[in-house]
Amino acid sequence: MARARVLSGVQPTGSLHLGNWLGAIRNWVDLQESHDTFFCVVDLHAITVPHDPARLAEDTLSTAALYLACGIDPARSTVFVQSHVPAHSELAWLLNCVTPLNWLERMIQFKEKAIKQGDNVSLGLLDYPVLMAADILLYDADLVPVGEDQKQHLELARDIAQQRINARFAPKDADGEPIPILRVPEPLILRQGARVMSLTDGSSKMSKSDPNEGSRINLLDPPELISKKIKRAKTDPVMGLEFGNPERPEADNLLGLYALLAGRTPEQAASDCAQMGWGQFKPLLAEVAVEALRPVQQRYADLRADPHGLHQVLEQGRHRASEVAAATLERVRGALGFLKAG
Ligand code: TRP
Repeated sequence: MARARVLSGVQPTGSLHLGNWLGAIRNWVDLQESHDTFFCVVDLHAITVPHDPARLAEDTLSTAALYLACGIDPARSTVFVQSHVPAHSELAWLLNCVTPLNWLERMIQFKEKAIKQGDNVSLGLLDYPVLMAADILLYDADLVPVGEDQKQHLELARDIAQQRINARFAPKDADGEPIPILRVPEPLILRQGARVMSLTDGSSKMSKSDPNEGSRINLLDPPELISKKIKRAKTDPVMGLEFGNPERPEADNLLGLYALLAGRTPEQAASDCAQMGWGQFKPLLAEVAVEALRPVQQRYADLRADPHGLHQVLEQGRHRASEVAAATLERVRGALGFLKAG
């Protein structure tokens, strides 16, 4: 039987941090064993808020290189850049024309981002979830690994596929049964414990958009910077690290990070650090963070030293992705009644 297909992507804005790695990319690496995996760098999404053209290409390339450095294997996964496959934009347009405006206006992330943009909100920002639906639906993805914040977007992709395309436009087979045009994807809820929180506030997620650099550890931060950020991380006056105390979100987060980075189970980590004060714990956490990132940083440096190799990986990814995407787009164009070219 064919393997279930998985698709996911990250925006090339800013650098990837521990939250992206431990919460998402590390799980993608495991999925390669059992699934047909597609991973893209979603550069078209990156321009939905004002962006710096001088950085887009470099950020796209470095994000792709970090996927590989983290263990995404181009022999097993299709790794590509969203804008290199024009079918994403084209399917997004077709989906735009069947998606009710009020489905987009009620998206939580749009409302949050729109507030931050003030009076500079682009139509693209509103349309972001439709482009994401196109990303997913183009590849007939069975499963999409998503965190809590992306669930509403996946739900939208399902509704567009099911209610707006399949229910309205599916052709019928000889028995009068509808032949679905788009596969309706399911969310893949990732294992617990991988929600990495900010170093400066244990109750908010580690995020690229936090203006405070000290709130996150980027995958390419040098060892001294990692130590410095951990040293400055928010603490509390209590002695001993522990999980699950609602009064101590920072202890919970940093102990969780220690467990993930040191390869310890939560039980082991809790017993390792139950008696430690912050002054003893922080240098230990810094050490395991530096050690865990060292091989990723080394592979990253090797990959960037061979731009031709990286380019080839993305070209191969573009080819494979384009093939699948073209077939889906053809089905949708046909179902919507477009005149064939040629
Ligand atoms: N919106 C996603 C995020 O910010 C990124 C994304 C774009 C994505 N297209 C996707 C994720 C398709 C999964 C599948 O995390």
